[in-house]
Amino acid sequence: MTAKVIDGKAFAANVREQVAAHVARLKEQNGITPGLAVVLVGEDPASQVYVRNKHASTIEVGMNSFEHRLSAETSESDLLALIAQLNADPTVHGILVQLPLPSHLNSDLVINSIDPAKDVDGFHISNVGLLGTGQKSMVPCTPLGCLMMLRDHHGSLAGLNAVVVGRSNIVGKPMAQLLLGDSCTVTIAHSRTKDLAAVCRGADILVAAVGRPEMIPGDWVKPGATVIDVGINRIERDGKNKLVGDVHYASAVEVAGAITPVPGGVGPMTIACLLANTLTACCRANGLTEPKGLTA
Ligand code: GUN
Repeated sequence: MTAKVIDGKAFAANVREQVAAHVARLKEQNGITPGLAVVLVGEDPASQVYVRNKHASTIEVGMNSFEHRLSAETSESDLLALIAQLNADPTVHGILVQLPLPSHLNSDLVINSIDPAKDVDGFHISNVGLLGTGQKSMVPCTPLGCLMMLRDHHGSLAGLNAVVVGRSNIVGKPMAQLLLGDSCTVTIAHSRTKDLAAVCRGADILVAAVGRPEMIPGDWVKPGATVIDVGINRIERDGKNKLVGDVHYASAVEVAGAITPVPGGVGPMTIACLLANTLTACCRANGLTEPKGLTA
């Protein structure tokens, strides 16, 4: 059997269309334009590409985009002062500080200085705690995107065995919380897990978020399982640069029931969910109905 390939590019385009339609209504009926502020410190090339893409996507759905590019030598107090200014600005509904920050800046301190209601990354400890206790929160974008695709494919996730490989604060841990919230039986596995192959073979839903190219082969996948590959790894093969996931796609696609490819799977969903979170934050800030299907 060959798996159904989940088209994240098309799915993300659909999410962005829903966001754009809601933004147009907000403008027309309430005179409100959602605004996203992105803060980039330093000149990391990958971060510059992400920030450029975020800016273009934000404008495309009709939102305001506020970009703040600071030098790599920016002091912590100057960065905190900018965040305080954005927290107080009523035209800014979402704030994202691009990570990683230069090493002289304390990322935890910086992230936790963002107003939790504007924390569209869902990284503030208040949002982490709210998610962990099943309360309304801002949810990290990549796991939110994975959840949307899983709900779309399965309908209900209740009772399914979900294995999340990876325990990062950005993907693994919030992904596990979201799956638990949808009544999955959840295992978080990682590099120290004993017999990882056997653990993966028990998964109806297998989420790979370890950051190791093609680490999970097809024979670790339960026949018919849904495989969500969060990995984006650049490798060189046959003298060419290639993007591969954490799953060995060619072998897994023969076993799985459904699978996200790399590229074109989870990747495009992250920015789409950032826009969805900005819209949600804007609606909450103004006491308006939240968009349906775009939150956890
Ligand atoms: N750097 C890489 N991914 C992310 C993300 O999702 N959010 C932020 N703020 N920085 C990142």
